[in-house]
Amino acid sequence: MIEGLGPDEARVFMRLALLDAARQLRQQLVAQAALAGNGCEPVPADWAGISPSAPQTPNTTRPSPPRTTDAPTPVPSAPNPAAEARRAIVGDVKKSAPRARPNATPNQASTLDAFSQLARDAGPGPSAQIPESERPKSMAEVRTLLGDCTRCKLHQGRTNIVFGVGDPTSDLMFIGEGPGADEDQAGVPFVGKAGQLLTRIIGAMERTRDDVYVANIVKCRPPGNRDPEPDEVASCEPFLTKQILVVQPKVIVTLGRVATQALLRIRTPITRMRGHWQDYRGIPVMPTLHPAYLLRHPPAKRAVWQDVQEVMKRLQSDQQGA
Ligand code: URA
Repeated sequence: MIEGLGPDEARVFMRLALLDAARQLRQQLVAQAALAGNGCEPVPADWAGISPSAPQTPNTTRPSPPRTTDAPTPVPSAPNPAAEARRAIVGDVKKSAPRARPNATPNQASTLDAFSQLARDAGPGPSAQIPESERPKSMAEVRTLLGDCTRCKLHQGRTNIVFGVGDPTSDLMFIGEGPGADEDQAGVPFVGKAGQLLTRIIGAMERTRDDVYVANIVKCRPPGNRDPEPDEVASCEPFLTKQILVVQPKVIVTLGRVATQALLRIRTPITRMRGHWQDYRGIPVMPTLHPAYLLRHPPAKRAVWQDVQEVMKRLQSDQQGA
């Protein structure tokens, strides 16, 4: 017997409680599998051991707070099955307030809402095809268009614009979130600790940084390594789009939540997106976890290794079909 409930109500209560427990268990298993990369091959030895405590090239720049990139979003608190059961049986006396969207911290929620606002307001979205006439002739042309950019507030704190690096005719492009302190100093993307891990990941793909193209969603460092804000993303987006139009990669790899959500203008958590092919204007996109996240959560490297193997397979089959 459940206090306060008749036999029919108690049966419904038990069923709802079981369903709820099963749903929570499933959510946990999906998140764990996403991060562990179940069933995939071991991570290549040369990037398995990289960790924040591993010796690195001396870093003379000011330490920054770690990025929040890819931190698993908090699991929402369990709904009260008794209340749900009662509501199912006797109806709701008061209209219940809309439930807060799960999987988003307040900061992420407002960023994501603003991203979806962008999706409505901004220029052509990820599914729009850009006319050939709008394709820039070269990366140098895009760099000239960007100029000494002051289009958003990030220019105030930057040391250097971090435009992009690598082969502008590569079949493979990596897109990160935005420069950190090291990149801001160097004017080159992914040169800090996370960048060194990315370089090893690229090496494990039997590539070098020189034969892929690496860029970021925003080209100036957000202060304190915070997420770029929607207006900053919107100001930079046309230049990233042009860079992609120049490179015309066969595959884009987005690194982490911010890059994935901003490029694709979606709000799906990265733990659900990673490893699943997406599309950006006809170009296959493989979302994966950010190397900075891997530094803090080394077991997640297996998931990334699984994702980049998918990318290698796709590039190989493209080459064979070409
Ligand atoms: N993280 C990024 O997302 N981009 C960089 O260039 C460096 C760190």
